Amino acid sequence: MTDAVHAAGGLIVCQLWHVGRFSHVDLQPDGGAPVAPSAIRAEGQTYTENGMLDVSMPRALETSEISGIIQQYRHAAECAHRAGFDGVEVHSANSYLLDQFLRDSTNQRDDEYGGNIENRSRLTLEVTAAVVEVWGHNRVGIRLSPVTPDAGNTPLDSQVMQTYGHLIKQLNRFYLAYMHFVEGATATSRSVPDGVDLDALRALFKGAYIGNNNYDLNLAVNRRAEGKVDAVAFGRPFIANPDLVRRLKEGADLAVAPRETYYGNGANGYTDWPVLAG
Ligand SMILES: Cc1cc2nc3c(=O)[nH]c(=O)nc-3n(C[C@H](O)[C@H](O)[C@H](O)COP(=O)(O)O)c2cc1C
Repeated sequence: MTDAVHAAGGLIVCQLWHVGRFSHVDLQPDGGAPVAPSAIRAEGQTYTENGMLDVSMPRALETSEISGIIQQYRHAAECAHRAGFDGVEVHSANSYLLDQFLRDSTNQRDDEYGGNIENRSRLTLEVTAAVVEVWGHNRVGIRLSPVTPDAGNTPLDSQVMQTYGHLIKQLNRFYLAYMHFVEGATATSRSVPDGVDLDALRALFKGAYIGNNNYDLNLAVNRRAEGKVDAVAFGRPFIANPDLVRRLKEGADLAVAPRETYYGNGANGYTDWPVLAG
């Protein structure tokens, strides 16, 4: 895949994930409980070989296990390197493991990875440091989504501005390639709770900024013109428009993928969307 992207003149970055508590025992190597900062069950369903099932009760990671989690990210970063990617993105968004550690709603630990903001940010920063060691700082990005609840509408962090503000300021020491930021609730809305100012968080980051979430061409052009983004990431529009960039350049209509086809289940409605004629 990376060869194909390069042959077409593209670049491709691999996102490194750990879903943490948002998992099911059937997906675990030993059928054990998913791991999380604290034993707090998420609400929602995930994909298993037996279809969509409610996510399982997680167990809290022992402090002694956390170095192993960081080692898994390092290993994934090395694999991405061998696979020919151009960079990696640390997924610290969308209520997955790193975000679960950041938020006081999902992190009730009393060791050095829980409690105050410095401690709750520690895992994201240690993972970023490990990945930067493998790739070099200018090939590593980070994804954050400060106001995205997870599927079960888990409360956000109680101090969004302080928590993510601290994290972003700490991330500056890595001189990352970019910060990829979900503006609003992922794939849902661009609105933010009272007291949250995402542009103020953006301004704390000393590097390239990629905005995402419910962008269309006009919003992208306008926010770029206002100096509020360096680049824009489109998600869903790419599913039904394999030639999205061309369509945006030409002002062509965009096809809209129905939700049911979002996560695969065969090529139908997933990889068979036509490109524009001509
Ligand atoms: C089918 C589907 C899969 C997604 N997978 C990921 C993912 O792997 N990692 C991630 O950070 N976000 C993922 N997202 C969220 C998107 O990256 C993006 O933040 C969201 O769709 C909002 O952008 P959009 O309005 O341009 O679609 C996914 C969204 C959809 C619809």
